[in-house]
Amino acid sequence: MYKRVLAVLACLVGVWAACPTGITPCTCREETAGRIMECSSVSSSDQLLTVFSQDIAETTFQYFQIVKLSGRCTLEKVPANVFGDCTFMFVWFGQTDVVTVDPNAFEGNELTMLELTFADANKMTSYPFESLADLHSLYKFFVSNSLIDTITHFGAAPNLTQVSITGSKVSTISPDAFADLGRLSRLDLHDNPLTVIEDGWFASSSSEPWVLYLDDCSINDISAGAFSGSLPTGIYLGGNDLTSISEATFRAVLENMASASEAGELTHYIDFKQNPLVCDCDLQWVATSTTLLPFVRNAVCSNGDVKGTDIADLPEDFFAAC
Ligand SMILES: *[C@@H]1O[C@H](CO)[C@@H](O)[C@H](O)[C@H]1NC(C)=O
Repeated sequence: MYKRVLAVLACLVGVWAACPTGITPCTCREETAGRIMECSSVSSSDQLLTVFSQDIAETTFQYFQIVKLSGRCTLEKVPANVFGDCTFMFVWFGQTDVVTVDPNAFEGNELTMLELTFADANKMTSYPFESLADLHSLYKFFVSNSLIDTITHFGAAPNLTQVSITGSKVSTISPDAFADLGRLSRLDLHDNPLTVIEDGWFASSSSEPWVLYLDDCSINDISAGAFSGSLPTGIYLGGNDLTSISEATFRAVLENMASASEAGELTHYIDFKQNPLVCDCDLQWVATSTTLLPFVRNAVCSNGDVKGTDIADLPEDFFAAC
């Protein structure tokens, strides 16, 4: 048994081919998880293109990494066909000065790339989201701390499950931007100046239960048509500026959560922690509903006698005069 495990391991390790040479300033190393191409020392896109125009015998890699432990990588753009004939599964651009990414940047990686990350991309002003449709295997797309202010339509990436654009400058989302992501299960946009959520921004056709993270976005209004199609089964709205829980916006979402939960499906809730909610007659619809209230969490009044009281704990006669 032990021998057989060893044989299988040896076989797996054997799959990872030897590292190429002559790829300075990139380096390559082999680990049990696969071959890692480490390019933290590149200083321009031309230099990166030069590395990948070498004659590399074994073109299948698992990891591409730029990770700066200190300072920044001065790579300024990701050009078309940046990896030449090489393919990767996990691609990580960290702490770069990348402003733009070519729509054809990852040509050749359509069936290999699983994760694409631009961490601390604090010069990036936009991303060609439409082109993600070409990456058929991609399940995770992450951008953090960018200058992106507008999220435009995401191409129909068939396996894209997790999308995260956080700590950026997003204030506008094109209607139906995420509507063609059929497997979306987690959308994280926390820490962006979204302020007002408009109709169609979170229209979805996902076949999966999906959860939306909108914490710390200075949101003061969410329009009635913000959610449509496949409704989220969890919404995290902590640390925003909402003063009410609008029935027009949230009734359908909460009813959907209640029926999904009834059907035994995994359901989250809507989290309102740290919002300046004003408790008055406008909240009666949800505060007095035994079916919907369980899906509202941390909704605490900020006004008058009930300041500090969770809407689930309001006095019985609170809505008597409504
Ligand atoms: C998409 O995901 C499914 C299930 O996770 C997998 O079987 C399939 O191979 C993936 N498609 C591609 C093109 O990677």
